[in-house]
Amino acid sequence: MDLNEAITGRRSVREYTAQAVDEPTIARLIDAAVHAPNAVNQQPWTFTVVRDQSLLDRISRGAKDHMVATMAGNPHAERFRARLSDPNFQVFYHAPVLILISAVAQAPWIVEDCALSAENLMLAAYAAGLGTCWIGFAQGFLNTSDGKNILDLPAACVPVAPIIVGHPKTVPPPVPRNAPRVRWVG
Ligand SMILES: Cc1cc2nc3c(=O)[nH]c(=O)nc-3n(C[C@H](O)[C@H](O)[C@H](O)COP(=O)(O)O)c2cc1C
Repeated sequence: MDLNEAITGRRSVREYTAQAVDEPTIARLIDAAVHAPNAVNQQPWTFTVVRDQSLLDRISRGAKDHMVATMAGNPHAERFRARLSDPNFQVFYHAPVLILISAVAQAPWIVEDCALSAENLMLAAYAAGLGTCWIGFAQGFLNTSDGKNILDLPAACVPVAPIIVGHPKTVPPPVPRNAPRVRWVG
């Protein structure tokens, strides 16, 4: 796929078929992810692949409870209250796979490194006909000891990018972008 087509055509997908994503495909996406630029080539990332729907349900419940418990005074989070209180809402949209990109807390620039690898992964998935979505709703909970315990993550691990992957059920419409604020200086 043409790179510009991938960059402009990729969308966050929130409806998936039940079709599994096979392991060689997941491995190819992770291979794309590790080709991202990263500080001092430390490659601090770890990819935790979760396909067990009961685990994803548990994390989703924990994530929703955590967000509701911590959102007081945060107007950005408050607007999601009704949705997070809906027992039928699963933060992972029942996608067949979650790939959590994390790193250990000691390394500098881990957030930048993991985010860049996440974008590579999402673009590679799109080029392979798959859908993805970064699930920020899950980040706060996955960073707690309860969240880390569910996935057996070490205490020093920082979950940065929870990315769901699956076969899109529908093609999302284009999401408009504002004209960029650009300052030409000099
Ligand atoms: C850090 C981050 C967190 C996000 N968290 C969520 C989320 O929890 N749930 C969700 O449905 N989409 C989430 N998204 C997807 C954004 O809503 C989406 O990227 C944005 O609306 C632009 O749409 P597009 O990705 O289709 O271009 C997140 C995206 C990023 C980068």
